[in-house]
Amino acid sequence: MTKKLRIGIIGTGGIAHAHMRAYQKFEDVSIVGGADIIPGKARAFLDEFGLCKAEAFESAAAMIKNLELDGVSVCTYNKTHAECAIMALEAGLHVQCEKPMSFTLAEAVDMVRASRRSGKILTIGFQPRYSHMRRKVDEIIASGTLGEIYYVQSGGGRRRGIPAGSFVDAEKGGFGCLGDLGCYSIDECLHAIKYPKPLTVSAVATDHFGKNPQYWSDPENFNVDDFSVAFVRLENDITFVFKQAWAMHADSLGDTLWLGTKGGIKICNGFEDPSKPSRVMCFMDVNGMQTDTYVLPSNMYDAYRGPAEIDIFAAKVRDFCDAILEGRPAPIPGEEILYNQAIIDGIYRSAKEKKEIVIDIPSI
Ligand SMILES: NC(=O)c1ccc[n+]([C@@H]2O[C@H](COP(=O)([O-])OP(=O)(O)OC[C@H]3O[C@@H](n4cnc5c(N)ncnc54)[C@H](O)[C@@H]3O)[C@@H](O)[C@H]2O)c1
Repeated sequence: MTKKLRIGIIGTGGIAHAHMRAYQKFEDVSIVGGADIIPGKARAFLDEFGLCKAEAFESAAAMIKNLELDGVSVCTYNKTHAECAIMALEAGLHVQCEKPMSFTLAEAVDMVRASRRSGKILTIGFQPRYSHMRRKVDEIIASGTLGEIYYVQSGGGRRRGIPAGSFVDAEKGGFGCLGDLGCYSIDECLHAIKYPKPLTVSAVATDHFGKNPQYWSDPENFNVDDFSVAFVRLENDITFVFKQAWAMHADSLGDTLWLGTKGGIKICNGFEDPSKPSRVMCFMDVNGMQTDTYVLPSNMYDAYRGPAEIDIFAAKVRDFCDAILEGRPAPIPGEEILYNQAIIDGIYRSAKEKKEIVIDIPSI
């Protein structure tokens, strides 16, 4: 067998376990090290997966200096994504960084600059991109069938779903649900229309649930948002309406929508209705008649059964490995996610400043 890819994991908390489980499925990958700033945490993590020969470190810098690596997974909390990713890129390593890309737009810009300078991969961990239905929706929109898309709306949100730990600590996570779940919503909505440039944003963010002991166990230490809404102007006169919640008194913030001049797509949110064949609907005029169609997870031979849903997390990690092995560009390039981070940064600042702000993206 050819030489195995040598991977290190930076930050050995919750999501590092999903990275490890994925890497361990692949015979051509070896996890040779882990680093965490909490003493003993990286060692315990490696031992948990039976990797007693892999080396543990208490800083990313020490791991990068002491091990011969091909790439790293950056699994630290949001506020240290940039420093760890840049350090690895500057050492000539390929980087798979967890979502959201960073805390600020300025950090994301620095990450992209570092990847350009080093010529190494910087890919951002949006595993829903590997979902079969997500790809079908993207393909329908990319086909041009819906005409010119002029309005996009995010949906979803959780009724009760405030996460714990670094997610609710502004010192570590930076923001709350607006960046945590928000980055997924933005990617779902805007990757499908090839990420038009964001121009302005007007946003509100609140914390009614995290600060209320009836809904959250530690309100004293909850210091991020748990709900936010934003009105975002994109280039080409496209409007993007963003909504996100970790908690609310409703089953959903509405449906995800793309409206075009010739048709529209809706992803129905809230509880699944077993009487409906799919959550995804397409609206068009056919021969002058208004027509509603369910988009099925079809394959060529059996439209109703459809292809089996794959393990999207493992698919994302595999794609990173294959990109390194095949010398391909980043599967989900930092350059593209810059606009995602620009919107998150804009929502955060607009909500703090309580006014519409202009999104200014430095050239790379
Ligand atoms: N893709 C997904 O499905 C998914 C799911 C959950 C979390 N995440 C993302 O993963 C990231 C981590 O989330 P988590 O739940 O694992 O958090 P966590 O707090 O459980 O783990 C983060 C770990 O990083 C360590 N760390 C922080 N800064 C470090 C540094 N400079 N060097 C080395 N170690 C450092 C911390 O000590 C901690 O052990 C977040 O950005 C989160 O948004 C992604």
